[in-house]
Amino acid sequence: MTMGGEAASTSSSTPHSQPLETEATQCRVESVKRHLSRLVVKSLCAVAADFDVEPMLEVSKSGFGDYQCNNAMSLFPRIRESATNLGNPNAVGQAIADNLPPSRIVESTSVVGPGYVNIVLSSDWIAQRIQDMLIHGIESWSPILPVKRVVLDFSSPNIAKEMHVGHIRSTIIGDTLARIFEFANIEVLRRNHVGDWGTQFGMLIQFLFEKFPNGEEAANQAIGDLQSFYRDAKKKFDENPDFKGRAQQAVVRLQRGEDRYLAAWKSICQISRNEFDLVYKRLNVELEEKGESFYNPYIPHVLEELTGKGLITESKGARVIEGRKPPLIVVKRDGGFNYASTDLAALWYRLNVEMAEWIIYVTDVGQQQHFHSVFSAARMAGWLPDQKEEKYPKASHVGFGFVLGADGSRFRTRSSDGAVRLVDLLDEAKSQSLAQLIKRLTENGQIAKWTDEELDKTSEAIGYGAVKYADLKNNRLTDYKFSYEQMLSDKGNTAVYLQYAHARICSIIQKSNKDVEELKMTEFITLGHPDERSLGLHLIQFAEVVEQVCDDLSPHRLCDYLYTLSERFSQFYTNCQVVGSPEETSRLLLCQATAIVMRQCFHLLGITPVHKL
Ligand code: ARG
Repeated sequence: MTMGGEAASTSSSTPHSQPLETEATQCRVESVKRHLSRLVVKSLCAVAADFDVEPMLEVSKSGFGDYQCNNAMSLFPRIRESATNLGNPNAVGQAIADNLPPSRIVESTSVVGPGYVNIVLSSDWIAQRIQDMLIHGIESWSPILPVKRVVLDFSSPNIAKEMHVGHIRSTIIGDTLARIFEFANIEVLRRNHVGDWGTQFGMLIQFLFEKFPNGEEAANQAIGDLQSFYRDAKKKFDENPDFKGRAQQAVVRLQRGEDRYLAAWKSICQISRNEFDLVYKRLNVELEEKGESFYNPYIPHVLEELTGKGLITESKGARVIEGRKPPLIVVKRDGGFNYASTDLAALWYRLNVEMAEWIIYVTDVGQQQHFHSVFSAARMAGWLPDQKEEKYPKASHVGFGFVLGADGSRFRTRSSDGAVRLVDLLDEAKSQSLAQLIKRLTENGQIAKWTDEELDKTSEAIGYGAVKYADLKNNRLTDYKFSYEQMLSDKGNTAVYLQYAHARICSIIQKSNKDVEELKMTEFITLGHPDERSLGLHLIQFAEVVEQVCDDLSPHRLCDYLYTLSERFSQFYTNCQVVGSPEETSRLLLCQATAIVMRQCFHLLGITPVHKL
C-alpha cells in the first residue's frame, strides 16, 4: 500500500457541487465598462476598419465625463496615411465620438486635447440599472468569466511546524479570491496543500516511539505542543547520529505503510490540524485538505511522462528540469522526491483529474521563483498553453509581501518564550474591539440596550474583520505593518469605519419606517442632485471592479472601491436630506442599494457586516 493512497482516504473530502444557475445569475448583465467597450469597438471598426484596435477605456479622472476613451492618440499615426481627412489626433477622437452607435447608455460626448473622448452616461440609465439590481439581486451584477472550475491553493501550513503570519495572509487573500470566484458562479476547489510529508516525519515518529515506548494516549498528550516537540526531536536528530539512523529507518517503514508508523503519522497530523482549525474557525474559512502526501503516488508516473518528453536530465547525481535558472530539482541525489516533484504531480492531478481550468497558488513572494519554474516545466510538457496566448488552462501565482511589526522588522508570531500563537493574535483583536465597543456604548448611554451575545458577536465581526481588512486593503505585493491601533481605528480607511458607515445606512432606512422591499417594486430612483448621481455612478461600477479583481487577483481594488463608496455616500447624505424630503422614496432606494453593495463587498472580503453599532 502506498502512503498517498492511505492519505487520500483519510483526508476529508466534500463532493464537488456544481454551481446552480439561479434566477439572479440568469439576469446577469455585463459591466458598464464592457458594455461601453462594445460601443467603442463598433466605432473603432467604422473609423479604422483595417486595423485591429483594442478599446482603451477608463473611468474618467478629469471630471469632464464619466468614462474616457483614449484610443485616438495612438491610432492617429497608424491611420494618417489612409485616412487623410483625419488630420490630427483630435479629429480621430471626434470621429470615434461621432461613430459611437446610438444607445440608451450615452447621454453625451465631448472631445478634448489630443482626442480624448469624454463619455457622459445617461442618469436615467444609471438609475434604471440600480433599480434592476434591487429587483433581481446583487448576483445580477456578478462577473461573467470564461471558466467553470478553479483550484485555489491557499493557506497550506506545514504539519508539526508553526503556522505563521504568512499563512494567515495566504488564508485571508485566498479566501477572498475564492469568495469572488464563487460569486461569479464558478466552482472553486479550495485546497489546503499542507506540508504533511517528508523525511522530518521519520524523525518525529522515532522520537515519539522512543519517548513513549508503551502507550499512545500519553503520547497524544505529550505532543500537544507540537512545536516544542519538533524542536526537541530536531535537537536529538542533529546531535545523535544513532538516532538519526533510526529516524531514517522510520521514514522507510512509514513509506512502506507499516501500521504503527502510519498511525503515529496520522496522530501527529491530527494534532496540527486541530490547531489550524482554531484559526480557520475564527476567520470563518472553509478549506479542503489535500496535503503533499496525497500526490505522492502520482509522482513516479508524472516524472516518467516528463522523462519520456525528454525534459528531465541528470545533473550532479540529481534529476532536474532545465529551462529556467536555476534548474528545477525533481529527484534529489538520495533518490527522494521533494517540494517541486510534489507540485508537478499536484498540477498534473489538478489539470487531468480535477479538470480545473485555472489553478491559483497563494504564497509569499519568496516562492515566486519556484512556481514559475513549475509552470514553465508544465508549459514545456504541453500541459499548459504558451503564456502569451492567454488561453486556458492557466496557472497563476498570487504572491504577497511580509507582515511587519511596529518596529518595521518582520512580524514574529512566536516570541523567544514561545508565547504568541496566531489564535491569540486574532483573539486580541476581538477583545480590543469589545473593550472599545463597551466604552463607547457606556459613554453614550446605550449599553443597556445590548445583550452579552450581541456584544460578543459584534466585537467578533469587528475584530476579525479589522484584521482581514488591514491585510486586504494593501496591494498584496507590498509589506504592511500590523497594528491593532491602526486597524481598530474608526477613522480613515479601516473596516471599523466602514462597519459604522454601513450600520448608519441601516439605521436611516429603519428610522424611515418605510418598507423598501415594497418601494423598489412600485417607485423609481431619480438622480437629480450631483451627489446622488455621483453615488449612483459609483454603485454601478461595482461589477467592473470585481471583474478587475478576477483578472489581476488583487483584492485591494475591492477595498478601495468600498471605501470610496462610503465616502460618496457620506457626501450624498450630507447634502441630500433623505427622510422627510420630497425625494424621500428615491433616496431611500439609493440608501438600500448602497447598503446591499457594501454588504456584498464585506461578504467578498470575508467580513461579517454589522447592522447595529
Ligand atoms: N506549505 C508551503 C509553505 O508553508 C506552502 C504550500 C503552497 N502550495 C503549494 N502547492 N506548493 O510554504
